[in-house]
Amino acid sequence: MKRTCSILTWTVPLWCMACGRAGAPRSDIDDGIAEHAMVVTAHPLATEVGVAVLREGGNAVDAAVAVHYALAVVLPWAGNIGGGGFMVVRTANGKVITLDFRETAPMRASRDMFLDSAGVANPRLSQFGHLAVGVPGSVAGLQAAHDSLGSLPMARLIQPAIDLAAMGFGLTAREAQRLNEALVGLRTHSTRPNAFTTKSHWRAGDSIRLPELAVTLGRVRDSGPAGFYTGRTADLIVAEMERGGGAITKADLAAYTPVWRAPVHGRYRDLDIHGMAPPSSGGIILLQLLAAMETVDVRTMGWQRVSTVHRMVEAERRAYADRAAHMGDADHVRVPVAGLLDPMYMRERMQDIDEQEATPSAAIGAGVPDEQEETTHFSIVDAQGNAVACTTTLNGSYGAHVVVGGAGFLLNNEMDDFSTAPGAPNAYGLVGGEANAIAPGKRMLSSMTPTIVTHHGDLVMVLGTPGGSTIPTSVFQVLLNVVDHDMTMQEAVSAPRFHHQWLRDVIQEEAGAITSTDSATLVRMGHGLVVREPIGRVDAIRVLPDGRLQGGADPRGDDSIGGY
Ligand code: DON
Repeated sequence: MKRTCSILTWTVPLWCMACGRAGAPRSDIDDGIAEHAMVVTAHPLATEVGVAVLREGGNAVDAAVAVHYALAVVLPWAGNIGGGGFMVVRTANGKVITLDFRETAPMRASRDMFLDSAGVANPRLSQFGHLAVGVPGSVAGLQAAHDSLGSLPMARLIQPAIDLAAMGFGLTAREAQRLNEALVGLRTHSTRPNAFTTKSHWRAGDSIRLPELAVTLGRVRDSGPAGFYTGRTADLIVAEMERGGGAITKADLAAYTPVWRAPVHGRYRDLDIHGMAPPSSGGIILLQLLAAMETVDVRTMGWQRVSTVHRMVEAERRAYADRAAHMGDADHVRVPVAGLLDPMYMRERMQDIDEQEATPSAAIGAGVPDEQEETTHFSIVDAQGNAVACTTTLNGSYGAHVVVGGAGFLLNNEMDDFSTAPGAPNAYGLVGGEANAIAPGKRMLSSMTPTIVTHHGDLVMVLGTPGGSTIPTSVFQVLLNVVDHDMTMQEAVSAPRFHHQWLRDVIQEEAGAITSTDSATLVRMGHGLVVREPIGRVDAIRVLPDGRLQGGADPRGDDSIGGY
C-alpha cells in the first residue's frame, strides 16, 4: 500500500508544544564533562541545587530528592508534589532497583467515569479539572527513596525548594511563555486565586514567588509524608476536590503507597539495559525496540537513513500495538511481562517486517506472548558511582490546571493515561483496552522510561525524557546514537528525532530529522510522514572509558548540566 507524503503539522497536545526550539545546551562545566559527579535536569536552578548536595557529600539519591523538590517549584508545569513518577537507581555496588510512585485512581473512580450518556469518552473531563486528578505519589515516593538510600537529612534536601518558593525566582523565556499559555486554564479550573494567575502576562526575567507552596513544603519538611497525606495539606486537597467536583478523599490520600519493583532487564549488544516495569510500558517497549535492532547492522545502515528508519518504525508499530493490548497495572491485571520480553517472542514478533515495504498499522494486531505470568526527567551520578534516572510528571503541562486552594501546588491530570473507553485515544493518541481500564486504586499505564545502562556491572549511561507516548522511542534513539552511531552524549541528545506509535499510522518527525531524499523513499515504501514540534527533552549522562562523566542536556528546553 502506497501513501502520499503529507507535510502536515501533527497536532500534539498543547502541553507538548512548548517543549521549545533547539538552542545551545547549558552547562556550567567545560565541554559538559565532569571528573566526579554530574546532574542534568530541565532547569538550571534545579541542577544547581543537585550539584550543591553532591558537593556537600550527599549521594545521588539525596541529590534526586533535592532536585525533585526544586523542580516542583521552578518547573511548575511538570516538576511536582501533586503528581508522580518512576525512579531507577543503580547503587555503587552494582545493584539496580526501581521505585514506582505513580498516581493511583481514587476509590470513587469507575471504569466509565469519563463517558457521556452516549457512551463516548469526554477528553475534557479526563484532561482538565478535578476529576482528571490521580492520587499524588511524589512525596511518598521521595520519602521511600530517602528512607532506603538517602544519607543527608531530609530537611536539608527540601530546604532549597522552600527557599526558592518563598523568595521567588526569575522566569526563563520558555517558562514565561508556558505559563502564559496556561493562564486561561489555570483560571478556569482552579477554584481559588493563586500565585500563577496574579499577572495576566508573564515576561522572561519576571520574578515569581510561591508563598503558599513554601508553607506546604515546610509541612512536608517538618512532618514527612504525613505533612502532605494527612493534616492541613490533606484538608486543603480534599476541600479543593469538594469545591471542584473531584473524587479524591482523605482515605485515598492516607492509603497512597509507593512500591519498589524489580526492574525489567534486557541486553543490547554487550550492554545491560535496566528499565521500569509496569505500570510503565516504557521499559518493555524499549527492550522490544532494541531487540529488533539486535539482528541488523545499525552502524552500517547509517544514522537516520532509509533502512534504519524503516526498521525502527516497523518495530515501533508492533511494540505499541502490544502496549495497547497487553499493558496496564500488573497489580490489577495480568501483564505478560516475561512473555513480552522473551527473546523468542520478540524475534517472532519482528519476523514479518518487510524490508522493502511498510506494513500498514491496520494490518498489525497485538502479538500473543506466552502467559507466564509534561513530565520531566533528570539524571544524576555521584562520586561513588550511585546513579539515579528519574522521570516525574503531572501528565499534561500544569496537569489538571487545578492549584490546590491555600496549598499553592498543581494537581496532575494522570487519569487521562487510563484507557477511558476501548479504542478512545488519550491526549497522546494512545489507545488501550481492558488491561488499562479504570479501576479504584489502580495505577494508570505510563510510557515513562527512566533507564540505566551497564556493562559487566559498570555504569555506562543514565537517561530518560518527557514526551508522553514518544518517551520510549526517544530513549531508544538516543541509545542507538551513542552505541551504534558513535555520538557524544550531547550529540545524541541534540540530534533530531522521529516517532511512530502504531496508531495513528504515520511517522512523526522533527524538521530535518530525515533528509528529503530519504523521506521520499520512505513514502514510496508506504510510510506516511508528518513534521511536528520538538520531541521530548532528554537529559542524560554517560560514563566515558576513563571514568569521567559526559552530559547531554536537551537544547529543546532550558535543560542544563552541572557537576564537578
Ligand atoms: O506517564 C506517561 O506516560 C505520561 N503521563 C507522561 C506525560 C509526559 O511525558 C508529558 N510531557 N510532555
